[in-house]
Amino acid sequence: MRLALESPPMDIKKAIKQHIEIDKFFVEGFSLKGTQIPAKQDVMPAFHDSVSEELAIIAMDIEQCCCCGLGATRTNPVPGEGNPHAKIVFVGEAPGADEDEQGRPFVGRSGQLLTNMISAMGLQRKDVFICNILKCRPPENRDPKPDEIIHCLPFLQRQLEVINPEVIVALGAHAAKTLLKTNDAIGKMRGQFIDYYPSEGAKPIKMMPTYHPSYLLRNYSVDNRKRVWEDLQKVMKLLGIKAPK
Ligand code: URA
Repeated sequence: MRLALESPPMDIKKAIKQHIEIDKFFVEGFSLKGTQIPAKQDVMPAFHDSVSEELAIIAMDIEQCCCCGLGATRTNPVPGEGNPHAKIVFVGEAPGADEDEQGRPFVGRSGQLLTNMISAMGLQRKDVFICNILKCRPPENRDPKPDEIIHCLPFLQRQLEVINPEVIVALGAHAAKTLLKTNDAIGKMRGQFIDYYPSEGAKPIKMMPTYHPSYLLRNYSVDNRKRVWEDLQKVMKLLGIKAPK
């Protein structure tokens, strides 16, 4: 006891840093460490084609939308960003404070983790498309309301139809439940490919539900991290992507 009392107060920051480093060393996959999010111009490859044009039109429609109350309370709409010809589209729940401020998806803490997840897959943000179910921030980051989802979902459906990716990674319960029109728990859905139909009669797109990065940050355990990495590895295997050494 005496020893403990006499030892200097633990430097929390140092302990967290050590934990992250040890963790990265022993567990494969992505790091939890904060990452620099690339600038917007660096994640939007300049294609001058019909897909890019259509995505720009959808973004303008989102900008003008006032179907639900969120248009009045948001700072900026967050339509999504990335490669119009991406093979993978990551779909989250809704913009948070950082995203609302910058008009970009996943640029806060969970965005840093998502960026790490993407680089662990051997990709960069410019290789994929990142967006959300809701395009405007719900105040105080509350859960999306059913009427907000009903009004906003057609924008995402249009984006998915135009991009026509090979895989959608649904990040978290809201994204997976909304797209798959189910009430199943994310823990039950994750880890398996499920067909998503962008519209009636359309060709299905493979969807991989997994945990949301912010869930992982809140409920960090080596097991949860491994589960997400396993889910991403299934996507990589399907697309023939090799993890960097
Ligand atoms: N969480 C989300 O679901 N989306 C974002 O863009 C940021 C945080």
